[in-house]
Amino acid sequence: MERKREQWKSQFGFLMAAVGSAIGLGNIWRFSYMAYEHGGGAFLIPYVIALLTAGIPLLILECGLGPERIGSAPLAYYKISKKWEWLGWWAVVFVMFGIELYYTVIIAWCLNFFKYSFYLGWGDDPNAFFFKEFLSLSDGPSSIGGIRTPIFISLVIVWLINWVISYRGVRRGIELANKIFMPLLLVLTAVMVFWSLTLPGAFVGIKAYLKPDFAKLSEPKVWIDAYSQIFFTLSLGFGIMIAYASYLPAKTNITRNAVLTGFINSGYSLFAGFAVFSVLGFMATSQGVPISEVVAKSIGLAFVAYPKAVSLMPGGNLFGAIFFLCLVVAGISSSISIIEAFAAAVVDKFGWKRKSVINVVCVLGFLGSIIFTTQAGLFWLDIADHFLTHYGLVVVGILECIIVAWLFKLDVLRTHINKISTIRLGLWWTVLIKYLVPLVLGVILIGDLIEEFRTPYEGYSWTSIIVIGVDWVLLTLVAAFWLSMRPWQTEEHKTAGRGEEHL
Ligand code: ALA
Repeated sequence: MERKREQWKSQFGFLMAAVGSAIGLGNIWRFSYMAYEHGGGAFLIPYVIALLTAGIPLLILECGLGPERIGSAPLAYYKISKKWEWLGWWAVVFVMFGIELYYTVIIAWCLNFFKYSFYLGWGDDPNAFFFKEFLSLSDGPSSIGGIRTPIFISLVIVWLINWVISYRGVRRGIELANKIFMPLLLVLTAVMVFWSLTLPGAFVGIKAYLKPDFAKLSEPKVWIDAYSQIFFTLSLGFGIMIAYASYLPAKTNITRNAVLTGFINSGYSLFAGFAVFSVLGFMATSQGVPISEVVAKSIGLAFVAYPKAVSLMPGGNLFGAIFFLCLVVAGISSSISIIEAFAAAVVDKFGWKRKSVINVVCVLGFLGSIIFTTQAGLFWLDIADHFLTHYGLVVVGILECIIVAWLFKLDVLRTHINKISTIRLGLWWTVLIKYLVPLVLGVILIGDLIEEFRTPYEGYSWTSIIVIGVDWVLLTLVAAFWLSMRPWQTEEHKTAGRGEEHL
């Protein structure tokens, strides 16, 4: 029996969902911190170059592949060649049963901090509060300790929200939620930005954020980080955009949607950065210290530096609540997209009922997240994140380009996209996908590997690195191969993996 694939109600709905997936936790603090560390305004040069040369071209590819191959990532690759089905599975498996597990825990922290904002629950020393009291951090990854009850409770809420939205389906769940979440996020962020700009010392922060230090552009790390940031922020290599795009009608303006998604996402990062840095400028000024003393790395920026500033600010409670609510909203809209990428793959392959798949995936996801709510959670998160984003996403990105550009007829895909889109893709697109993107990602991968062997990541023991980081990558790979070897149970796809039958 042929099943009808659900479709977005409108192209606007798809755009909101794609933007919702892209804008996530990473946009608010990771981008700001990176911009600061890598030369302020000068960082925008590699960032924009990475967006234009890799981000948007790959986004077009993933968005074009979904409707052309009509399926989630494993099905799309299977239709190109049976041999590559595993790659689609690997992407959706390590993202769902890796990245998603700790991503939801960070959203849970944000939910806790949203509550603490109302009564400045972090007290006088947010640093001690976050690490000692809230996380109750153990000595290292091997001392798991107990589950942190406040985090656990918030995690239940986060998974319930994930479940309700995903269970309702593509239109009534994901599309509707994003149509509410994205405008809400924009309004909340705008309030935060304009409010923060009125704070005394805001200008000091903005100067630190945007003042260009062009000397940094000669450092390879700056370029590597710009490309990695673009990759993560646009949810590339997650299998999400392929699945989301597979719910588009056959004739859709692919390039326009992809270009809009890329620009809205990066524009949002840039905009939110003003709030982050105005607040840091305010904090530095009110404490009479240079801004470099108040800037903290990723997690410290949101959960230590920001709470400190909120405590100093008149009306800070409300400001803190808005900030953490933004993180929750941005996080949930990305988290549901990860669930969808995996669930769509299972439904495509096994033909099981979507609702049952969502129930099982959410329960398993919740159970898997629990390890990150323990006292060793932050260590586990740090190691898993490093390995999955550096060796999962980047490898998927490279292979994606190779398969589509070298094994599949890339120009056929380009012609197809051009036929239905307003912005035409020239030869430049083929050149970028075929040569530049795999080359840049290859360089990043080699650079990372060299670094890995030189010193163990963040000084963790080799045992922790192997047991948590390397194993996570390998086990998900084994699961992906296993899944790709199962027979297709959906009638319409049983014979689909013959290769280029669509061309
Ligand atoms: N794109 C999502 C983020 O930036 C995953 O957090």
